[in-house]
Amino acid sequence: MSAQVLVAYATKYGATAEIAEKIGQVLRDAGLSVDIIPVHRAKDPDSYKAVLLGSAVYIGQWRREASGFLKSHEKVMAGMPVWLFSSGPTGKGDPAELVQGWHFPKALQPIADRIRPRDIALFHGALEINKLGFIEKWMVNNVKAAAGDFRDWGAITAWSASIAAVVKKEVQDK
Ligand SMILES: Cc1cc2nc3c(=O)[nH]c(=O)nc-3n(C[C@H](O)[C@H](O)[C@H](O)COP(=O)(O)O)c2cc1C
Repeated sequence: MSAQVLVAYATKYGATAEIAEKIGQVLRDAGLSVDIIPVHRAKDPDSYKAVLLGSAVYIGQWRREASGFLKSHEKVMAGMPVWLFSSGPTGKGDPAELVQGWHFPKALQPIADRIRPRDIALFHGALEINKLGFIEKWMVNNVKAAAGDFRDWGAITAWSASIAAVVKKEVQDK
């Protein structure tokens, strides 16, 4: 039997992959069958009942494989329950405030407007300076981004649990 929910993600250094794993685990604990897959390996979303798609944010953009998936599958996703999430801001405090109100990549907003996701979440990310290349280190230094793991597992779990409740209800009602 194919899974009910797709959790697809794009990551560079692994922080977003672990967020996706957590989201998928919460959905599984709620009794849903879930595929948790790097987005470049995800198949067409139309075999699922719901799709959750997330990406790490680099210089205000989603990773190319995540934005590509959104563009390629816009039509199918517009007809199903979809949730989007980003992993980015580091530092203490509200993630949106840390990135001056940034919410979602501007270039993708028209596609999101057509898909009409149930929610677009912005989660804190994790930044390990010693994993970064020279230019990335310079960029991070330049914007004074805080190094460390700021992922808020409580917020991620609460978001996922609320989605699990909605998906379960909609699957049952069908
Ligand atoms: C070069 C560079 C640029 C970044 N730009 C942004 C940004 O524009 N907005 C943001 O919120 N986070 C930004 N980040 C932080 C990453 O999105 C964050 O570390 C994320 O959790 C990394 O996820 P990953 O490990 O899955 O790749 C940047 C990090 C680096 C190294």
